Parts: sequence; structure tokens; C-alpha cells
Amino acid sequence: MTYQFPKNFMWGTATASHQVEGGNVYNDIWLMEHTPGTVFVESSGDAVDHYHRYADDIALLAGLGFNMYRFSLEWSRIEPEEGEFNLSELEHYRRMLAACHEYGITPMVTYHHFSSPRWLMRHGGWSGDKTPELFARFCERSARYLGDLTGAACTLNEINIATLFSVLNMFRPENAEAQPEQPPAWMVAAARSLNVTPQQFAPFMFAAGPKAIEIVQKAHRRGVEAIKSGPGAYPVGVTLALMDIQAGPGGEEIAARVRYDVNESYLEAARGDDFVGVQTYSRFRFGPKGMLPPEWEVTQMGYEFFPEALEATIRLAARVAGVPVIVTENGVAGDDDARRLEFIQRAVKSVASCLEDGVDVRGYTYWSAFDNFEWMQGYQMKFGLIGVDRATQARSVKPSARWLGALAKSGILP
Ligand code: BGC
Repeated sequence: MTYQFPKNFMWGTATASHQVEGGNVYNDIWLMEHTPGTVFVESSGDAVDHYHRYADDIALLAGLGFNMYRFSLEWSRIEPEEGEFNLSELEHYRRMLAACHEYGITPMVTYHHFSSPRWLMRHGGWSGDKTPELFARFCERSARYLGDLTGAACTLNEINIATLFSVLNMFRPENAEAQPEQPPAWMVAAARSLNVTPQQFAPFMFAAGPKAIEIVQKAHRRGVEAIKSGPGAYPVGVTLALMDIQAGPGGEEIAARVRYDVNESYLEAARGDDFVGVQTYSRFRFGPKGMLPPEWEVTQMGYEFFPEALEATIRLAARVAGVPVIVTENGVAGDDDARRLEFIQRAVKSVASCLEDGVDVRGYTYWSAFDNFEWMQGYQMKFGLIGVDRATQARSVKPSARWLGALAKSGILP
């Protein structure tokens, strides 16, 4: 039995500016990496030098068979000081887009993938009233410059990430009795170094709570308008961190609440967009007292190895958002590439099963093209289809990359 994917199905890989470019010294993440006592285990440093090596990297991905590449703009490069736009950086991203076209790859541009310029904290970061407008201005300027070469765009990456983190924390059994958290000392120190209050220091990943939810959703709406005001006609959407939320015995009520707060309420906000980006890594199970321990083997990230989570989240996204779905991230962290291959094979089978049932799925994007900087966990997490020796920046293609690239070329799933 084989399955034939639709002809124009997008087969992609993804990266994010701060995780691969290197030297992103003007953003909030770099600051947090370098604040004493930080939870970041190491500095992003030169990352995998994608900033300089993008042309070879894109050629490599195209050679493997991929027809889409999702990457993000680094706002802090384009607007390093408030209102000061750096055309040479927009030119850099224009060259990246041109390289994609040269190699027959559709570029999907993410306007914000977790990292923000430090100056945004003066306005209260992702809890600040002015942030949607400032984000929209950045989108408008960039789209005007890049829109004619863009194939698809995401406003913000995982607008529910902070909600996901905070809900999971609340339901971890060890936190059952915990009081609401105060900002940790290192964050207070990071805020102080920018001369802002700890309340103003609200980086995207950590900005949880009703105010941040409102600001981030507004920023998405304003971003869509701003991006669409530029040249080109391409789909614009938002991506969500959609873990498959399951109920163990007696956990139905909690699971339904978590599923609504973390997944469904955000999917409702994506109604009316051109697509919704589904990003799934695993599942979480809930019992009557909170989160249940994993049943299966866990990955480097501590997630259960459960590729079928993707099928549930695609179906949920299509049902609740009612718009086409693009899997904009799916992947596994581990040193054993044979396990990665199995993960991918089972995940794409899930995608095929959704398509067979008539669910409108337009693409599958593996996270990540390269082993890269996994935020707080640094370089130890190996998500890549392509390994990188960070001493020499040499790339090495893993067998899983060849398998997925071949599927991308043929569209036939054995
Ligand atoms: C993020 C990526 C991250 C990946 C793996 C997603 O939440 O968009 O930046 O590297 O998950 O943890």
C-alpha cells in the first residue's frame, strides 16, 4: 500500500533567526543568556552561522528535495533601536528569499519567532499596550521590502507558548501547593540592566496572563493587516504550539479545560486567517490531580515519543479554526537518527490519514533543518535533519533528511 500526497503539497524544514544566525546581540534572549543566574544553560554565540551560510544551506535543503523553507526575520537586526530601520538587514533577508527562489524553494517567512529587540521592554514587552502597534510597524516596513518575494507568512510563532508553559507548571504535581510565582532574581537583574521595572520586562516566551494574551492576539491581527498591505499576494497566518492534550482515567475535566485554554481558545482566534500553523511535538496526559507521568520512552526534551500526537492536533486545528492547516513544525530531539526516522515516518502517516479523510492540510515542515540553539536548553538538544560541527560549522546530512527529502520529491509514502 502506498499513499500519494497532493501535487502541490509543501514539504519544508524550519529554523528561527536566533536559533541559527549567530551574533544576535541586540535582542532580549541574548540579554537573558548573559544575565548571571540565568536559566539559559549557554550562550547562543555564533549559533550555526546561518546568517553567513544561508545560501549553501538553502542549496543543501533544495538538493535533498524540500520545496519549502520556513525561517524568521530577526526584528532586532531590522530595527535595532526604536524607529531606526536598518535597510542593509532587510536587504540580507531579501537575499535569503532570492536564494530560495533560485533553488526552487517556496520561502515561508515568520515575522517574530520568540526574540524581540531589547528596546521593546521599555514599552512593557509582550504585556505592553503599544506593542501591537510597534510590531505592526515592523511588519509593514518589512513586508513592503520583502513581500514580492514571499511565498507565505506567519505573523508570530506560537502565540500560546507562554500560556502553555504556565498551565503546564500549574498542573505539575510538584507545584500543586505552590503560590503564584514572583519573577526570579535573574529576570529582575535583566530588567534592571535595561533600566526597566521587572513588570515591564516581558519577553515573549514568558509573558503569560490575561494582559499578555490580549496584547499578543492584537499583535497578530495588526500584523496580518500590515503584512497584507505590502506587495505580493500570499497566505498569512499564525502558528500555535499544539500539544495533544489527552485525558487519563478521571482526567476528562482537567484535560478539557487545559485543551480549551491552551489550544482551542487560540484556534478560535485564527478563524478567518488564510491558514493556521500546527506545531506539535508530543502529548500531555492529565488525571484528576494534574499531569500524568509519561507512558512511553521520552526524548531529549523529556517529551513522550509519540508522533501520532500530530494527527489529533491537525484534526483539532481544522475543526476549531476552520481554515487550511500547514504543519509548520514537527520533530524530535535525540542523538539516534534511526529514532528520528521512525518519528517522521509515523508523523507523516498521520498527515496522510488526515488527508484521506478530507482534512485540508497543505504542508509538513520538519523542525529543524539543523541542530541548533534550543533556547534555555542550548545546543545539547539535537532536533536537526542536518548535524553541525560548531567548531568548524561543517554540515552533515543525517539519513532521516535523505528519507524525508526523497518523500518530498516523489510525494509517495510507501
Ligand atoms: C519552537 C522552536 C523550538 C521547538 C523545539 C517550538 O516550540 O517554535 O523554536 O526550537 O519548539 O522545542
